[in-house]
Amino acid sequence: MGKFRIRFEPDGGSATVEQGTTILEASRRAGVAMDAVCGGAGECGRCKVRPKGQFRSARSPLVSETEARAGVVLACKTTVEGDLTVEVLPRSKVGKHQILTKSVAEVPKRLTPWVTKKLIELPKATIEDNIADLERLLRTMGAPHMPVPLTALRALPEAVRKGGWKVTVTESSLDGRTEMCRVEPGDATDRLLGVAIDIGTTTIVVDLVDLLTGKVLCQASDYNKQMMRGEDVIARMMFAEEGGREELRFLVTETVNSAISTLLETGSSRAKSPIEREDIVAVSVAGNTIMAHLFLGLRTDNVRLEPYVPVAHRVRGLRGSDTALLVNPSAHVLLFPSRAGYVGGDVVADVLSSGMHRSDDLTLLVDVGTNGEVVLGRRDWLVSCSCSAGPAFEGGEVSSGMRAMEGAIDRIRINDDLSTSYHVLGEGKPLGICGSGLIDLIAEMFDHGIIDRKARVQSLGGRRTRTTDAGVEYVVEFKDRLGTDTSGDLVVTEADMQNLLRTKAAICGACSVLLRKTGESLENIRSIVIAGGFGHHLDIERAISIGMFPDVDRKKYRFIGNGALGGARVALLSGKRRREAGEIFEKMTYLELSVDNQFYDEFQSSLFIPHTDIERFPSAKKGPNGEAGKG
Ligand code: FES
Repeated sequence: MGKFRIRFEPDGGSATVEQGTTILEASRRAGVAMDAVCGGAGECGRCKVRPKGQFRSARSPLVSETEARAGVVLACKTTVEGDLTVEVLPRSKVGKHQILTKSVAEVPKRLTPWVTKKLIELPKATIEDNIADLERLLRTMGAPHMPVPLTALRALPEAVRKGGWKVTVTESSLDGRTEMCRVEPGDATDRLLGVAIDIGTTTIVVDLVDLLTGKVLCQASDYNKQMMRGEDVIARMMFAEEGGREELRFLVTETVNSAISTLLETGSSRAKSPIEREDIVAVSVAGNTIMAHLFLGLRTDNVRLEPYVPVAHRVRGLRGSDTALLVNPSAHVLLFPSRAGYVGGDVVADVLSSGMHRSDDLTLLVDVGTNGEVVLGRRDWLVSCSCSAGPAFEGGEVSSGMRAMEGAIDRIRINDDLSTSYHVLGEGKPLGICGSGLIDLIAEMFDHGIIDRKARVQSLGGRRTRTTDAGVEYVVEFKDRLGTDTSGDLVVTEADMQNLLRTKAAICGACSVLLRKTGESLENIRSIVIAGGFGHHLDIERAISIGMFPDVDRKKYRFIGNGALGGARVALLSGKRRREAGEIFEKMTYLELSVDNQFYDEFQSSLFIPHTDIERFPSAKKGPNGEAGKG
């Protein structure tokens, strides 16, 4: 079988692959990140490319006539039959992402990391006192039984002599056991470092934290390289089941390690002496259950299938060496415990960041990312659920949708003549619409009568609404004003609207059902916490107006940004908060919505704008300008 060279444009990258390899696979081998929401199943239509050379392509209904005429094909449905130059279309690129790196978690007043450093002065060995280096050290420390890892033991003789019989010992006490983590020559007590890691399905963020001051020294983030193997957790689990588990473990580790490399470099350039991987002696990781499983190389098939059983909720005793992270191999790794298959350690970390578990006031926490998670509770109880909101607000399942990255419309208004005014991330020409833009759009289309309460697109005549074989669609922007010449007009279709409506209904339904099950009411809620990347760009007024979030006093809303990262960081710094994370995990009950009739009822009632029961949305009842709303 022949081998051929594939070159990717415009950003570069090439690979040599066998005949018959798909262009999507070739892009992965070339390290070219391409949008592939469905993982190459030919169902999402996101992997559009324009190849030149010899190839064989299956025609897909996801490629329009205009696109096909311009030579556009799906990368996952096109095989290499000769040397190729492949143009990756702008919307198919995994572009500069607006990764949410900010979090509002506090710096604890009293820093109590689980690692501490001690300067130990040893009596010099003599012929009368010639016990071994290790026993000498432990004898001096008064800790004869302290476990010592082999890495520290290997470093010991040189450290002792280089330091002139003075060494700095790093002790690590996590989960109630104190161990030696590291031995350094001389006095090295002025440096104690840890990393806090948020492993998201889409993005990964890592903070390098000074454990002596609580300060974040620097931060690095990137796409989770697993995205090459499917965008959502379901696609990843299926890939893992088909023999890809090890590859997924490798990809996520590689992403985290490349972020840590950046941190070592950036941190070193600002420090008195270079920062080495051995300097990172504490690691705190928060991620959803699937990400945590894949990070550890654990099976996920039982999480995917009913009754959705993870391998473990809580994993203790992890070391750097178990995870292949670019940190001290003996560093303890704290992995936030997962409550259920779809309520993971990231949600426990969100709760920890929000402080809702310490409050007497009833708080509702909503994290809308690739999946939607909702937690209701206060100091003495917490109930959580996952509402499989779907990827619509992350740009999936919506023809004009895209993630919040360069080229995405993140804010939009519809003018009286039905034309649009919008803001594009990166200030260039628009390529698509991200979640916050889509929420704006639903609200605006409803206000202008372009959709009815069931989100059905209305034909209003003119150029902006038009009827196609698939129903009526609204033109957000015409082709000549877009950033690509091949995608046709930017439109929202009947099917897009229904997907968006279902997503907002799932979130609204999840909030309502938690209130119903706990016998609480909206009036009792003192605070609504929005966590996650989505909340960052969100116009809360618009989200309420379409019935996605409760219609309560806007002052009750607060945003905590990347709660998972904030939680991971505070756990590095405070023993009290670490204990609280454990308590949150113990206390938080989980409600499985997929088999819950009440949720089904609430979901159905929410499939209207804003809701079947308009009384629940008094602001919407008044209408956008204070008049009665549209029926
Ligand atoms: Fe090609 Fe989804 S259609 S990756």
